[in-house]
Amino acid sequence: MSYKITFEAFILSAATKAAVEEACRDRRLSRSTVNILDGGLPAALSYYKSNHTPNLILVEEGSADSAMMDQLESLAEVCDPTTKVVVIGQVNDIRLYRTLISAGVSEYLITPVTSRQILETIDSIYSDPSAKQRGKVLAFFGVRGGVGSSTVAYNAAWAISRLGNDDVVVVDADMAFGTAALSFNQDPKQTLGDALSNPERLDASLIERFISRVDDRLGVLAAPAAVRGFTPIEPEAMEKIIELVRGQANFVILDLPHMWLPWVKDVLVQADEAVLVAYPDLANLREAKNLSEYLSEQRGEGSKPKLVLNRVDPSRKTQLTAKDFQDATGLEPLQLIANDRVLFETAANNGQMAGDVNATHKAVESLKALATALGAHAAQGKARNAPVAVGGLVLPESVNRFWQALIKKG
Ligand SMILES: Nc1ncnc2c1ncn2[C@@H]1O[C@H](COP(=O)(O)OP(=O)(O)OP(=O)(O)O)[C@@H](O)[C@H]1O
Ligand SMILES: [Mg+2]
Repeated sequence: MSYKITFEAFILSAATKAAVEEACRDRRLSRSTVNILDGGLPAALSYYKSNHTPNLILVEEGSADSAMMDQLESLAEVCDPTTKVVVIGQVNDIRLYRTLISAGVSEYLITPVTSRQILETIDSIYSDPSAKQRGKVLAFFGVRGGVGSSTVAYNAAWAISRLGNDDVVVVDADMAFGTAALSFNQDPKQTLGDALSNPERLDASLIERFISRVDDRLGVLAAPAAVRGFTPIEPEAMEKIIELVRGQANFVILDLPHMWLPWVKDVLVQADEAVLVAYPDLANLREAKNLSEYLSEQRGEGSKPKLVLNRVDPSRKTQLTAKDFQDATGLEPLQLIANDRVLFETAANNGQMAGDVNATHKAVESLKALATALGAHAAQGKARNAPVAVGGLVLPESVNRFWQALIKKG
């Protein structure tokens, strides 16, 4: 999710400095130690005469002559073998590019550079190739308690898995009051509490045993949901668990409690997407604005949080609108989920998702659209486990076969 590296940049121009500074504000570098200095390649050379080289050095260079190659050679002599060097220059010449790459430079970027190019270069150097197969982490957080954040998270997870092509694991991180096991009708033997009690022992095969299977596409790492024996969560332990679960699925849906704790902040800053769920009233608007400002700053301009409005009911004239939220937070709500107590309470009481109760309900349509907006991939052809309508009832396929038989008999 983010890189823990030491990174030093030696800059010549104000434009490059601005781009590097912006890149350093991105969530991917939120755990890195960064040092931005002036003076380009000559300054780097004199600096590393008396300082250790970091994981990554970025140097801006004005010329492209033999003096530059000599200076790079001198830099290579003082560099630790693991240090990577990226050069930013003005000369657009493929021969120069090849010479630099064959000399061991990781990348050559031509001015003007953008923060995005810098981050993509860092991604290409540090992202583990196997990480590409790792799941995308979507962290759901209610801007106030009880706004339906868990409900939206679970139904989004269900919709992503039903669209067809993605494996999904829900991690219920509401240790004391989590409802994922109930909502998905699971009775897990092991929970997140067991995983967190001994994080050093955890590995990929052990974490798999803690995940209870709802079906072949959807799993749940449930919360103990017991106030007795509650152990506080350490940020490092949570980070390890998320990394291990990412290895098991295409999407990890994190249901965060409404608590402003260090590990919750870390997860919201580092997740691939931070999804804020809000009810359309003034108190939620204020918290959404607060959180949006904080997270946009911490995650970087390119990775702002996403906003979902839940329990939307246009007939309630007191509710605020999507535009009110957009004006206040600068975030255009990704989806508006309709308010329907009967639908969501029926689902909750049955241990089902809303789409199992009524596949064509407009709230279910919005949740499917939310799944797509969050990157779910639709399968080619018919979605797996698609529910089928029978006699006005919509039931999961497994149950449906049973009903079909009964209806035929009747
Ligand atoms: N769109 C909706 N329409 C009607 N009821 C809803 C909707 N979304 C959620 N609810 C109901 O709101 C209640 C609270 O939902 P939920 O537990 O998901 O909220 P939460 O934000 O996770 O709460 P907490 O802060 O306790 O974690 C539940 O009874 C749920 O069924
Ligand atoms: Mg909740």
